[in-house]
Amino acid sequence: MHATPDLTRHTVQIDLGERSYPILIGAGLLGDSATYAGLPTAHSAMVVTNDTVAPLYADAVCAALQAHYRQVDRVVLPDGEAHKDWTTLNQIFDALLSKASDRKTVLFALGGGVVGDMTGFAAACYMRGVPFVQLPTTLLSQVDSSVGGKTAINHPLGKNMIGAFYQPQRVICDLDSLRTLPPRELSAGLAEVIKYGPIADMAFLDWIEANLPALRAREPAVLAHAVRRSCEIKAHVVGQDERESGLRAILNFGHTFGHAIEAGLGYGAWLHGEAVGCGMVMAAHLSQRLGLVDEAFVRRLTRLIEGAGLPIRGPALGADRYIELMGHDKKAEGGEIRFVVIDGPGRAAMRPAPDALVREVLAACCD
Ligand code: NAD
Ligand code: GLY
Repeated sequence: MHATPDLTRHTVQIDLGERSYPILIGAGLLGDSATYAGLPTAHSAMVVTNDTVAPLYADAVCAALQAHYRQVDRVVLPDGEAHKDWTTLNQIFDALLSKASDRKTVLFALGGGVVGDMTGFAAACYMRGVPFVQLPTTLLSQVDSSVGGKTAINHPLGKNMIGAFYQPQRVICDLDSLRTLPPRELSAGLAEVIKYGPIADMAFLDWIEANLPALRAREPAVLAHAVRRSCEIKAHVVGQDERESGLRAILNFGHTFGHAIEAGLGYGAWLHGEAVGCGMVMAAHLSQRLGLVDEAFVRRLTRLIEGAGLPIRGPALGADRYIELMGHDKKAEGGEIRFVVIDGPGRAAMRPAPDALVREVLAACCD
Protein backbone atom coordinates (compact mmCIF):
# COMPACT_ATOMS: atom_id res chain seq x y z
CA MET A 1 0.00 0.00 0.00
CA HIS A 2 1.29 3.46 -0.91
CA ALA A 3 0.99 6.40 1.46
CA THR A 4 -0.96 9.35 0.01
CA PRO A 5 1.58 12.05 -0.93
CA ASP A 6 1.22 15.27 1.05
CA LEU A 7 0.61 17.83 -1.69
CA THR A 8 1.23 20.73 0.69
CA ARG A 9 4.81 19.82 1.79
CA HIS A 10 7.65 21.37 -0.18
CA THR A 11 11.17 22.61 0.45
CA VAL A 12 12.78 25.30 -1.69
CA GLN A 13 16.47 26.02 -1.27
CA ILE A 14 18.02 29.49 -1.49
CA ASP A 15 21.58 29.04 -2.76
CA LEU A 16 23.83 31.79 -1.46
CA GLY A 17 27.00 29.95 -0.51
CA GLU A 18 27.52 30.05 3.25
CA ARG A 19 24.31 32.12 3.59
CA SER A 20 22.15 29.39 1.94
CA TYR A 21 18.96 28.30 3.69
CA PRO A 22 15.80 26.27 3.14
CA ILE A 23 12.22 27.52 2.83
CA LEU A 24 9.93 24.93 4.42
CA ILE A 25 6.35 24.95 3.14
CA GLY A 26 3.57 22.87 4.70
CA ALA A 27 0.70 22.61 7.15
CA GLY A 28 1.08 22.34 10.93
CA LEU A 29 4.68 23.57 10.99
CA LEU A 30 4.57 26.42 13.51
CA GLY A 31 3.62 24.35 16.55
CA ASP A 32 5.79 21.34 15.68
CA SER A 33 9.13 21.33 17.54
CA ALA A 34 10.71 19.26 14.72
CA THR A 35 10.38 22.35 12.49
CA TYR A 36 13.04 24.09 14.55
CA ALA A 37 15.59 21.25 14.75
CA GLY A 38 19.07 22.03 13.44
CA LEU A 39 18.95 25.81 13.90
CA PRO A 40 21.94 27.54 15.54
CA THR A 41 22.26 26.46 19.15
CA ALA A 42 21.75 29.14 21.78
CA HIS A 43 20.66 29.62 25.35
CA SER A 44 17.72 31.82 24.39
CA ALA A 45 15.22 32.63 21.67
CA MET A 46 13.20 35.82 21.22
CA VAL A 47 9.90 35.63 19.34
CA VAL A 48 9.06 38.98 17.77
CA THR A 49 5.42 39.35 16.82
CA ASN A 50 2.55 41.82 16.95
CA ASP A 51 -0.67 42.26 18.89
CA THR A 52 -2.80 40.67 16.13
CA VAL A 53 -0.67 37.59 15.51
CA ALA A 54 0.43 36.93 19.11
CA PRO A 55 -2.99 35.73 20.37
CA LEU A 56 -3.26 33.39 17.36
CA TYR A 57 0.13 31.71 17.17
CA ALA A 58 2.69 32.90 19.74
CA ASP A 59 1.85 30.34 22.46
CA ALA A 60 2.20 27.41 20.03
CA VAL A 61 5.49 28.73 18.64
CA CYS A 62 6.96 29.45 22.09
CA ALA A 63 5.94 25.99 23.34
CA ALA A 64 7.58 24.31 20.34
CA LEU A 65 10.75 26.38 20.82
CA GLN A 66 11.04 25.28 24.48
CA ALA A 67 12.32 21.94 23.13
CA HIS A 68 15.40 23.72 21.75
CA TYR A 69 16.07 26.79 23.93
CA ARG A 70 16.22 27.08 27.74
CA GLN A 71 14.83 30.59 27.66
CA VAL A 72 12.10 31.64 25.24
CA ASP A 73 10.93 35.27 25.41
CA ARG A 74 8.56 37.26 23.29
CA VAL A 75 8.09 40.90 22.36
CA VAL A 76 4.71 42.00 21.06
CA LEU A 77 4.79 45.08 18.79
CA PRO A 78 1.89 47.29 17.76
CA ASP A 79 0.39 46.05 14.49
CA GLY A 80 0.58 47.98 11.25
CA GLU A 81 2.72 49.49 8.51
CA ALA A 82 2.49 52.83 10.33
CA HIS A 83 4.60 51.26 13.12
CA LYS A 84 7.40 50.07 10.84
CA ASP A 85 9.66 52.76 12.28
CA TRP A 86 12.51 53.58 14.67
CA THR A 87 10.27 53.71 17.74
CA THR A 88 8.94 50.20 17.21
CA LEU A 89 12.35 48.85 16.18
CA ASN A 90 13.67 50.13 19.50
CA GLN A 91 11.08 48.04 21.34
CA ILE A 92 12.84 44.95 19.97
CA PHE A 93 16.23 46.20 21.22
CA ASP A 94 14.66 47.12 24.60
CA ALA A 95 13.30 43.59 24.94
CA LEU A 96 16.58 41.95 23.90
CA LEU A 97 18.64 44.04 26.32
CA SER A 98 16.21 43.71 29.22
CA LYS A 99 16.29 39.90 28.84
CA ALA A 100 20.09 39.95 28.69
CA SER A 101 19.98 38.34 25.24
CA ASP A 102 23.47 37.52 24.02
CA ARG A 103 25.06 37.41 20.57
CA LYS A 104 23.82 33.85 19.98
CA THR A 105 20.18 34.57 20.81
CA VAL A 106 18.01 33.54 17.87
CA LEU A 107 15.22 35.93 16.80
CA PHE A 108 12.01 34.46 15.37
CA ALA A 109 9.91 36.83 13.24
CA LEU A 110 6.31 35.66 13.68
CA GLY A 111 3.92 37.66 11.50
CA GLY A 112 3.62 39.35 8.13
CA GLY A 113 6.14 41.37 6.19
CA VAL A 114 6.15 44.26 8.64
CA VAL A 115 7.25 42.05 11.54
CA GLY A 116 9.63 40.13 9.25
CA ASP A 117 11.34 43.23 7.84
CA MET A 118 11.74 44.82 11.28
CA THR A 119 12.92 41.66 13.01
CA GLY A 120 15.45 41.03 10.26
CA PHE A 121 16.80 44.55 10.62
CA ALA A 122 16.95 44.20 14.41
CA ALA A 123 18.81 40.89 13.98
CA ALA A 124 21.28 42.56 11.59
CA CYS A 125 22.00 45.29 14.15
CA TYR A 126 21.78 43.68 17.59
CA MET A 127 25.34 43.04 18.80
CA ARG A 128 26.34 43.55 15.13
CA GLY A 129 24.34 40.53 14.03
CA VAL A 130 22.45 37.62 15.58
CA PRO A 131 20.74 34.73 13.76
CA PHE A 132 17.07 35.01 12.84
CA VAL A 133 14.32 32.83 11.42
CA GLN A 134 11.33 33.94 9.39
CA LEU A 135 7.91 32.55 10.39
CA PRO A 136 5.74 34.36 7.80
CA THR A 137 2.00 34.20 8.48
CA THR A 138 0.61 36.22 5.55
CA LEU A 139 0.50 35.10 1.93
CA LEU A 140 2.53 38.15 0.96
CA SER A 141 5.27 37.36 3.42
CA GLN A 142 5.34 33.67 2.46
CA VAL A 143 5.73 34.37 -1.26
CA ASP A 144 7.99 37.38 -1.06
CA SER A 145 9.09 39.38 1.96
CA SER A 146 10.43 36.56 4.17
CA VAL A 147 12.69 35.34 1.38
CA GLY A 148 15.86 37.01 0.13
CA GLY A 149 17.19 38.98 3.08
CA LYS A 150 15.86 42.49 2.50
CA THR A 151 15.16 44.04 5.90
CA ALA A 152 14.10 47.60 6.63
CA ILE A 153 12.00 50.22 8.35
CA ASN A 154 10.23 53.15 6.69
CA HIS A 155 11.21 56.82 6.80
CA PRO A 156 8.57 59.56 6.39
CA LEU A 157 10.33 60.48 3.12
CA GLY A 158 10.39 56.98 1.69
CA LYS A 159 9.43 53.38 2.21
CA ASN A 160 12.01 50.81 3.38
CA MET A 161 14.73 53.48 3.17
CA ILE A 162 16.65 52.42 6.29
CA GLY A 163 17.71 48.78 6.29
CA ALA A 164 20.19 46.05 5.51
CA PHE A 165 20.62 42.91 3.45
CA TYR A 166 20.62 40.16 6.07
CA GLN A 167 19.61 36.57 5.36
CA PRO A 168 17.56 34.42 7.73
CA GLN A 169 18.67 30.95 8.82
CA ARG A 170 15.43 29.38 7.67
CA VAL A 171 11.99 30.39 6.39
CA ILE A 172 9.01 28.40 7.66
CA CYS A 173 5.75 28.90 5.74
CA ASP A 174 2.89 27.30 7.65
CA LEU A 175 -0.08 27.22 5.27
CA ASP A 176 -2.49 26.72 8.20
CA SER A 177 -1.73 30.27 9.35
CA LEU A 178 -3.32 31.59 6.15
CA ARG A 179 -6.72 30.39 7.36
CA THR A 180 -7.04 33.30 9.79
CA LEU A 181 -5.90 35.92 7.28
CA PRO A 182 -8.55 38.54 6.43
CA PRO A 183 -9.68 38.32 2.75
CA ARG A 184 -8.23 41.75 1.97
CA GLU A 185 -4.81 40.56 3.14
CA LEU A 186 -5.11 37.39 1.05
CA SER A 187 -5.76 39.54 -2.02
CA ALA A 188 -2.74 41.69 -1.16
CA GLY A 189 -0.61 38.54 -1.13
CA LEU A 190 -2.01 37.47 -4.49
CA ALA A 191 -0.59 40.66 -6.00
CA GLU A 192 2.95 39.45 -5.29
CA VAL A 193 2.08 35.95 -6.57
CA ILE A 194 0.74 37.41 -9.83
CA LYS A 195 3.90 39.52 -10.15
CA TYR A 196 6.05 36.45 -10.77
CA GLY A 197 4.13 35.55 -13.96
CA PRO A 198 4.81 38.53 -16.22
CA ILE A 199 8.39 38.99 -14.98
CA ALA A 200 9.53 35.37 -15.15
CA ASP A 201 7.07 32.62 -15.99
CA MET A 202 4.03 32.97 -18.27
CA ALA A 203 3.05 29.33 -17.61
CA PHE A 204 2.69 30.31 -13.94
CA LEU A 205 0.49 33.24 -15.01
CA ASP A 206 -1.72 30.77 -16.91
CA TRP A 207 -1.86 28.59 -13.80
CA ILE A 208 -2.82 31.52 -11.55
CA GLU A 209 -5.62 32.51 -13.95
CA ALA A 210 -6.95 28.96 -13.98
CA ASN A 211 -6.70 28.58 -10.21
CA LEU A 212 -7.76 32.03 -9.00
CA PRO A 213 -11.06 30.83 -7.46
CA ALA A 214 -9.23 27.98 -5.65
CA LEU A 215 -6.57 30.41 -4.43
CA ARG A 216 -9.21 32.79 -3.10
CA ALA A 217 -10.98 29.79 -1.48
CA ARG A 218 -7.63 28.91 0.18
CA GLU A 219 -7.44 25.33 -1.08
CA PRO A 220 -4.32 24.00 0.68
CA ALA A 221 -2.65 22.20 -2.24
CA VAL A 222 -3.26 25.19 -4.54
CA LEU A 223 -1.89 27.65 -1.99
CA ALA A 224 1.09 25.35 -1.47
CA HIS A 225 1.88 25.38 -5.19
CA ALA A 226 1.54 29.18 -5.34
CA VAL A 227 3.93 29.61 -2.40
CA ARG A 228 6.35 27.05 -3.76
CA ARG A 229 6.53 28.41 -7.34
CA SER A 230 6.77 32.00 -6.10
CA CYS A 231 9.63 31.06 -3.75
CA GLU A 232 11.38 29.10 -6.52
CA ILE A 233 11.30 32.10 -8.84
CA LYS A 234 12.44 34.46 -6.10
CA ALA A 235 15.19 32.03 -5.03
CA HIS A 236 16.44 31.84 -8.62
CA VAL A 237 16.61 35.63 -8.94
CA VAL A 238 18.12 36.27 -5.49
CA GLY A 239 20.64 33.45 -6.03
CA GLN A 240 22.00 35.40 -9.02
CA ASP A 241 21.83 38.92 -7.57
CA GLU A 242 21.57 38.94 -3.78
CA ARG A 243 22.23 42.65 -3.30
CA GLU A 244 20.29 43.97 -6.29
CA SER A 245 23.11 45.16 -8.47
CA GLY A 246 20.85 44.52 -11.46
CA LEU A 247 18.57 41.54 -12.07
CA ARG A 248 16.88 41.52 -8.63
CA ALA A 249 15.21 44.83 -9.44
CA ILE A 250 12.72 42.95 -11.65
CA LEU A 251 11.08 41.74 -8.42
CA ASN A 252 9.99 45.35 -8.01
CA PHE A 253 7.59 45.25 -10.97
CA GLY A 254 4.75 47.62 -10.05
CA HIS A 255 6.56 48.83 -6.93
CA THR A 256 7.73 52.25 -8.20
CA PHE A 257 4.14 53.38 -8.75
CA GLY A 258 2.99 51.30 -5.74
CA HIS A 259 5.43 52.83 -3.27
CA ALA A 260 4.32 56.30 -4.41
CA ILE A 261 0.72 55.34 -3.64
CA GLU A 262 1.66 54.03 -0.19
CA ALA A 263 3.76 57.06 0.74
CA GLY A 264 1.37 59.55 -0.88
CA LEU A 265 -1.68 58.30 0.99
CA GLY A 266 0.24 57.68 4.23
CA TYR A 267 1.55 54.20 5.07
CA GLY A 268 -1.24 51.79 5.91
CA ALA A 269 -4.09 53.50 4.00
CA TRP A 270 -3.65 51.05 1.14
CA LEU A 271 -2.05 47.68 1.84
CA HIS A 272 1.36 47.15 0.26
CA GLY A 273 -0.02 44.39 -1.98
CA GLU A 274 -2.92 46.60 -3.08
CA ALA A 275 -0.52 49.35 -4.06
CA VAL A 276 1.68 46.83 -5.91
CA GLY A 277 -1.33 45.36 -7.73
CA CYS A 278 -2.42 48.80 -8.94
CA GLY A 279 1.22 49.70 -9.63
CA MET A 280 1.52 46.65 -11.92
CA VAL A 281 -1.45 47.91 -13.95
CA MET A 282 0.33 51.27 -14.33
CA ALA A 283 3.66 49.61 -15.18
CA ALA A 284 1.91 47.45 -17.79
CA HIS A 285 0.40 50.59 -19.36
CA LEU A 286 3.86 52.16 -19.38
CA SER A 287 5.31 49.05 -21.04
CA GLN A 288 2.63 49.31 -23.72
CA ARG A 289 3.29 53.02 -24.31
CA LEU A 290 7.00 52.18 -24.68
CA GLY A 291 5.99 49.71 -27.43
CA LEU A 292 7.07 46.63 -25.45
CA VAL A 293 3.75 44.79 -24.97
CA ASP A 294 0.39 44.96 -26.69
CA GLU A 295 -2.96 46.13 -25.39
CA ALA A 296 -4.20 42.54 -24.97
CA PHE A 297 -1.42 41.89 -22.46
CA VAL A 298 -2.36 44.98 -20.44
CA ARG A 299 -6.03 43.97 -20.47
CA ARG A 300 -5.19 40.41 -19.41
CA LEU A 301 -3.05 41.49 -16.47
CA THR A 302 -5.56 44.13 -15.38
CA ARG A 303 -8.41 41.58 -15.44
CA LEU A 304 -6.39 39.15 -13.32
CA ILE A 305 -5.46 41.80 -10.77
CA GLU A 306 -9.08 42.93 -10.51
CA GLY A 307 -10.18 39.29 -10.23
CA ALA A 308 -7.82 38.85 -7.29
CA GLY A 309 -9.80 41.53 -5.43
CA LEU A 310 -7.26 44.32 -5.92
CA PRO A 311 -7.74 47.95 -6.94
CA ILE A 312 -6.83 48.72 -10.54
CA ARG A 313 -7.13 52.53 -10.46
CA GLY A 314 -4.67 54.72 -8.60
CA PRO A 315 -5.70 57.38 -6.10
CA ALA A 316 -5.85 61.01 -7.27
CA LEU A 317 -2.56 62.23 -5.79
CA GLY A 318 -1.83 64.43 -8.83
CA ALA A 319 0.86 63.67 -11.41
CA ASP A 320 3.39 66.09 -9.88
CA ARG A 321 3.09 64.42 -6.49
CA TYR A 322 3.43 60.91 -7.99
CA ILE A 323 6.56 61.98 -9.86
CA GLU A 324 8.03 63.67 -6.77
CA LEU A 325 7.43 60.53 -4.70
CA MET A 326 8.81 58.22 -7.38
CA GLY A 327 11.97 60.33 -7.41
CA HIS A 328 12.69 58.93 -3.92
CA ASP A 329 12.52 55.34 -5.21
CA LYS A 330 15.67 53.32 -4.48
CA LYS A 331 15.99 52.51 -8.20
CA ALA A 332 16.22 56.24 -9.09
CA GLU A 333 19.71 57.27 -10.20
CA GLY A 334 20.84 60.90 -10.25
CA GLY A 335 17.20 61.98 -9.96
CA GLU A 336 16.14 59.86 -12.97
CA ILE A 337 13.27 57.50 -12.19
CA ARG A 338 13.76 53.97 -13.52
CA PHE A 339 10.82 51.63 -13.99
CA VAL A 340 10.54 47.87 -14.18
CA VAL A 341 8.75 47.22 -17.46
CA ILE A 342 7.67 44.05 -19.22
CA ASP A 343 9.66 43.78 -22.43
CA GLY A 344 8.23 40.49 -23.62
CA PRO A 345 6.04 37.72 -22.17
CA GLY A 346 7.68 36.49 -18.97
CA ARG A 347 10.56 38.95 -19.20
CA ALA A 348 11.21 42.22 -17.36
CA ALA A 349 13.76 45.01 -17.71
CA MET A 350 14.64 48.34 -16.10
CA ARG A 351 14.04 51.47 -18.15
CA PRO A 352 13.87 55.22 -17.65
CA ALA A 353 10.74 56.69 -19.27
CA PRO A 354 10.05 60.13 -20.73
CA ASP A 355 8.20 62.36 -18.26
CA ALA A 356 5.37 62.94 -20.76
CA LEU A 357 4.75 59.19 -21.09
CA VAL A 358 4.63 58.72 -17.31
CA ARG A 359 2.11 61.58 -17.10
CA GLU A 360 0.00 59.89 -19.80
CA VAL A 361 -0.02 56.67 -17.77
CA LEU A 362 -0.97 58.50 -14.58
CA ALA A 363 -3.78 60.32 -16.40
CA ALA A 364 -5.09 57.05 -17.83
CA CYS A 365 -4.80 54.98 -14.64
CA CYS A 366 -5.69 57.33 -11.78
CA ASP A 367 -9.01 58.66 -10.50
P1 NAD B 1 1.61 42.99 7.47
O1 NAD B 1 2.85 42.46 8.04
O2 NAD B 1 1.15 44.34 7.89
O3 NAD B 1 0.45 41.94 7.74
C1 NAD B 1 -0.85 42.22 7.30
C2 NAD B 1 -1.88 42.17 8.44
O4 NAD B 1 -2.22 40.81 8.68
C3 NAD B 1 -1.40 42.73 9.75
O5 NAD B 1 -2.48 43.36 10.40
C4 NAD B 1 -0.98 41.47 10.51
O6 NAD B 1 -0.98 41.65 11.89
C5 NAD B 1 -2.05 40.52 10.07
N1 NAD B 1 -1.70 39.12 10.12
C6 NAD B 1 -0.50 38.54 9.87
N2 NAD B 1 -0.63 37.22 9.85
C7 NAD B 1 -1.91 36.95 10.12
C8 NAD B 1 -2.65 35.74 10.23
N3 NAD B 1 -2.09 34.57 9.99
N4 NAD B 1 -3.96 35.82 10.54
C9 NAD B 1 -4.56 37.03 10.73
N5 NAD B 1 -3.93 38.20 10.61
C10 NAD B 1 -2.61 38.15 10.30
O7 NAD B 1 1.69 43.03 5.87
P2 NAD B 1 2.27 42.03 4.77
O8 NAD B 1 1.41 42.21 3.59
O9 NAD B 1 2.51 40.68 5.29
O10 NAD B 1 3.71 42.65 4.47
C11 NAD B 1 3.85 43.94 3.96
C12 NAD B 1 5.21 44.47 4.32
O11 NAD B 1 6.21 43.64 3.72
C13 NAD B 1 5.45 45.88 3.85
O12 NAD B 1 6.05 46.61 4.88
C14 NAD B 1 6.43 45.70 2.70
O13 NAD B 1 7.27 46.79 2.53
C15 NAD B 1 7.18 44.48 3.12
N6 NAD B 1 7.78 43.75 2.02
C16 NAD B 1 9.08 43.40 2.13
C17 NAD B 1 9.68 42.66 1.15
C18 NAD B 1 11.10 42.20 1.32
O14 NAD B 1 11.67 41.66 0.37
N7 NAD B 1 11.67 42.32 2.49
C19 NAD B 1 8.95 42.27 0.02
C20 NAD B 1 7.61 42.64 -0.07
C21 NAD B 1 7.03 43.38 0.95
N1 GLY C 1 10.53 42.25 -2.96
C1 GLY C 1 11.62 42.62 -3.77
C2 GLY C 1 12.89 41.95 -3.42
O1 GLY C 1 12.96 41.15 -2.52
O2 GLY C 1 13.88 42.22 -4.04
